Amino acid sequence: MLVILKKNTLEFLGICSVDPIDTETPELGIWIKKSDHGNSFGREAIYALKDWVDKNLEYKYLSYPVDKRNIPSRKIPESFGGKVFREFQQTNKSGNLLNEVEYRIYK
Ligand SMILES: CC(C)(COP(=O)(O)OP(=O)(O)OC[C@H]1O[C@@H](n2cnc3c(N)ncnc32)[C@H](O)[C@@H]1OP(=O)(O)O)[C@@H](O)C(=O)NCCC(=O)NCCS
Repeated sequence: MLVILKKNTLEFLGICSVDPIDTETPELGIWIKKSDHGNSFGREAIYALKDWVDKNLEYKYLSYPVDKRNIPSRKIPESFGGKVFREFQQTNKSGNLLNEVEYRIYK
């Protein structure tokens, strides 16, 4: 889990994660605070994280599950050439049923 800071001011922007790292299919996660949406910071952070993962971990593919309606998030794996591998339903921690898609990103 990494903290994302703005380069020039070190302002907190959000967090990103790769977990668990001792499997062949780690999962990527990203959260940017609302006031900083629209600047592609999420994409930039995931690019940097994948660069680190490619240099430091052995893996088969990276999993990126996302709510089907979350277009800004879906654009991140798609920009790596990631493809939807499966669709499924999941209840989140607030008890809402989500329609999810899982992207797989290869090295
Ligand atoms: C998902 C998230 C990280 C994306 O952040 P980001 O990379 O900074 O993305 P941006 O807000 O700059 O938008 C990225 C792209 O989505 C597009 N987009 C944004 N809102 C959109 C909308 N409502 N409809 C269509 N496209 C939209 C932008 O135009 C941009 O496209 P482009 O790169 O082709 O120009 C951020 O929205 C977030 O943290 N959301 C809350 C947590 C979350 O959903 N995490 C992901 C869980 S899987």
